[in-house]
Amino acid sequence: MSAISVSQLCKSYDGRQAVQDLSFEVQKGETFALLGPNGAGKTTTIEILEGYRQADSGSVSVLGLDPEKQAAELKRRTGLVLQTTALEPELTIKETITAFARLYGAPREIAAVLVDVNLAHLQDNRVGNLSGGQKRRLEIALGIVGDPELIFLDEPTTGLDPEARRKIWTLIQRLNDNGSTIVLSSHYMDEVQALASRMAIMVDGQIAAEGRPRDLQRQHCTHSTIRFDADGKLPAGFPAKLAPITTVHDGHAELVLEDPAPALGILMSWAEAEGHDLSSISVTRQNLEDIYLQLVSQRQAKPQGATP
Ligand SMILES: Nc1ncnc2c1ncn2[C@@H]1O[C@H](COP(=O)(O)OP(=O)(O)OP(=O)(O)O)[C@@H](O)[C@H]1O
Ligand SMILES: [Mg+2]
Repeated sequence: MSAISVSQLCKSYDGRQAVQDLSFEVQKGETFALLGPNGAGKTTTIEILEGYRQADSGSVSVLGLDPEKQAAELKRRTGLVLQTTALEPELTIKETITAFARLYGAPREIAAVLVDVNLAHLQDNRVGNLSGGQKRRLEIALGIVGDPELIFLDEPTTGLDPEARRKIWTLIQRLNDNGSTIVLSSHYMDEVQALASRMAIMVDGQIAAEGRPRDLQRQHCTHSTIRFDADGKLPAGFPAKLAPITTVHDGHAELVLEDPAPALGILMSWAEAEGHDLSSISVTRQNLEDIYLQLVSQRQAKPQGATP
């Protein structure tokens, strides 16, 4: 069953298209991740779904509601972690969460939420005195205090230290295990791979690729790179079969191949026969980060509005 349905969504600012003809679905119970470079349209899309911005055209349904016309009911049923939030600096952490909890019918225990975001020991500190990462964790607390069935997290872990990031991942996984549908945006591929059941890569207001992370990996990550140290040029006697497909730069030689095994066999036999030192050799499979960078540079090279 769909939690979110977006069809042909368009939004422009001052004549410049931020979201172009965007369509996607998020099923109930999913963790759906939007990934994309700065300015790709992630926040615009998320804030239209939350009812914070108005679409120019297209249709959007969130929990069966129209975010523009049924904003009050939608707010009661969703939790939001915006990219930036203005909070009252004079209130304490606990007072801020308590005030937000009143907006919801059946909020969670404040003490449990404080523990979830690792702020229990700072609960009486004023918001104005918090570090960037502490403020972010408070914003996450505000997004989950209502025990909502759908949670939007716009770059939830940007600015957090590595340990805090991992704790927030565990929290997001637990919320999802307990039945919440999650929509998150992120700049971190490891975060998306750890959390998302489905992901979409957004570039220039459009989806460049969409699917389960492991399916995208299988579909797009088709090549491996063999690399070994080489000074300036290939060594004398290098196998003639491999020389035309081997490039040398920055002190190492590289071969990019769909199946690296035959070339590895040739290299190993050659190294053994010639007594050549190949101890620096490595083989790495393309990963989703490589694919992301490839898709983004391909799409950004196209003029705006060009079809995929
Ligand atoms: N309120 C606004 N007024 C004018 N232009 C805007 C406004 N908000 C966003 N934009 C523009 O729309 C485009 C998409 O912005 P958006 O904030 O949705 O991107 P994003 O994918 O969330 O980027 P980031 O990763 O930097 O958060 C950008 O070109 C941005 O400059
Ligand atoms: Mg954004």
